[in-house]
Amino acid sequence: MVLKLGRMASSLLVFLLLLERGMFSPSSPPARLLEKVIQYIDLHQDEFVQTLKEWVAVESDSIQPVPRLRQELFRMMALAADKLRRLGASVDSVDGGSQQLPNGQTLPIPPIILAELGNDPKKPTVCFYGHLDVQPARREDGWLTDPYTLTEVDGKLYGRGATDNKGPVLAWINAVSAFRAMEEDLPVNIKFIIEGMEEAGSVALEELVRREKDRFFSSVDYVVISDNLWISRRKPALTCGTRGNSYFTVEVKCRDQDFHSGTFGGILNEPMADLIALLGSLVDSSGHILIPGIYDHVAPLTEEEKKMYKAIDLDPEEYRNSSQVKKFLFDTKEEILMHLWRYPSLSIHGIEGAFEEPGAKTVIPGRVIGKFSIRLVPHMNMSVVETQVKQHLEYIFSKRNSSNQMVVSMALGLHPWIANIKDNQYLAAKRAIKTVFGTEPDMIRDGSTIPIANIFQDVIQKSVMMLPLGAVDDGEHAQNEKINRWNYIEGSKLFAAFFLEMAKLH
Ligand SMILES: *[C@@H]1O[C@H](CO)[C@@H](O)[C@H](O)[C@H]1NC(C)=O
Ligand SMILES: *[C@@H]1O[C@H](CO)[C@@H](O)[C@H](O)[C@H]1NC(C)=O
Ligand SMILES: *[C@@H]1O[C@H](CO)[C@@H](O)[C@H](O)[C@H]1NC(C)=O
Repeated sequence: MVLKLGRMASSLLVFLLLLERGMFSPSSPPARLLEKVIQYIDLHQDEFVQTLKEWVAVESDSIQPVPRLRQELFRMMALAADKLRRLGASVDSVDGGSQQLPNGQTLPIPPIILAELGNDPKKPTVCFYGHLDVQPARREDGWLTDPYTLTEVDGKLYGRGATDNKGPVLAWINAVSAFRAMEEDLPVNIKFIIEGMEEAGSVALEELVRREKDRFFSSVDYVVISDNLWISRRKPALTCGTRGNSYFTVEVKCRDQDFHSGTFGGILNEPMADLIALLGSLVDSSGHILIPGIYDHVAPLTEEEKKMYKAIDLDPEEYRNSSQVKKFLFDTKEEILMHLWRYPSLSIHGIEGAFEEPGAKTVIPGRVIGKFSIRLVPHMNMSVVETQVKQHLEYIFSKRNSSNQMVVSMALGLHPWIANIKDNQYLAAKRAIKTVFGTEPDMIRDGSTIPIANIFQDVIQKSVMMLPLGAVDDGEHAQNEKINRWNYIEGSKLFAAFFLEMAKLH
């Protein structure tokens, strides 16, 4: 009871904040409606946590190719489809086909859910993307609680998938269900696209999005993804960009078989020595990439952007401490974030064919393959980068006069993604965050690559927004993954407030 009173008091506080900021006039219908929705979510939060518990209990692991786990994935998608149907959505579970594994085994791909609620042409249509598959988790990996039993400790809800991505998917559903339960008209038309293979590379997603471009997606105005985290424990964020990636292999070959250094050492151009020289020519010890021209197209830093970095809630020393690194290449918050988000980086990942076991074998590898990748940022052009890398390595290799053969290939290319933060949905999300959390969000980017944002932006050419709910320490993919009850419940309110703001802006 004490707890309930506390929750009521917090809704009242949000309402008073709303009034004080003059965002809504006291009697305006959206303000009253939002107040009611917020109260509803507070009062029903234990039910929302219970549903998350039921969803976390399904071992929807898409990584391990085991028939039993595939069945669990199908069960997960069926649970979600049922939940959406009960909200009144029309639901289409689209057959995902099957997947041929490298070992010849065939496994079925779980269906992708396409659902919709409302088709009023006067309202904007917002489409939410989420996924319900999870990374593998076993108690003996170092979990303190059973990964598939959602367990609350000090306001933290521990369980595999709690933050990535079952919690955020349910937060969106909770927001819709609050409007439905109060028999209130939804302020926006809502669509859902929910898949079960994200962790395994979204194998069937892009094809489906292309196929549905002129049907399911034709009426979509905005796409929202909540599949990443804040950069802070307490301060909400909006993600407005991610880096891309171009992954290269460089093969140096003398012959297919290895050599003995007693018999051939001294009379060969050794492939490994060539490769080390090639890899060593890519980046210097200050992190600067040495490939000529590579920085030519990097977007210049604007004053507005500089201010954005200043406002972000990050303690560089705490970040460094928690990473167990003695020193980063940069000391200030701004430099660290810019080099993670808005400048390219080059990483050397490994060497195939190298002798990497313990011991002292006197082998000369006959053929080695080096692997490195470049994180791309706006406005780098991937095909230009590919040419620059190849020309640079060919030049370095030619200077060695080696009699070996070298082949450079770009194995994978993913474009960077950048949002237009002046879009209506970013404005609406900012206002909703201010209303629910009482603060401006951190405007963040993600240093890694989230291909789904590009798929939606490139294929259906609509505005995409990433609106994360989870805190920086949620531990997605790690042991003891959690979502805070606070993030989950306030996140549900945030989505409700976002619907109302979208309706106002439209
Ligand atoms: C980082 O670690 C050092 C040494 O353990 C400690 O003195 C310092 O207070 C820590 N700083 C932060 C911000 O956590
Ligand atoms: C990238 O560069 C290539 C080759 O110069 C050009 O054809 C292509 O249009 C460029 N792409 C973009 C998106 O600018
Ligand atoms: C490569 O060959 C050229 C011409 O034969 C020679 O001038 C140069 O010194 C050689 N470079 C190396 C690294 O051996």
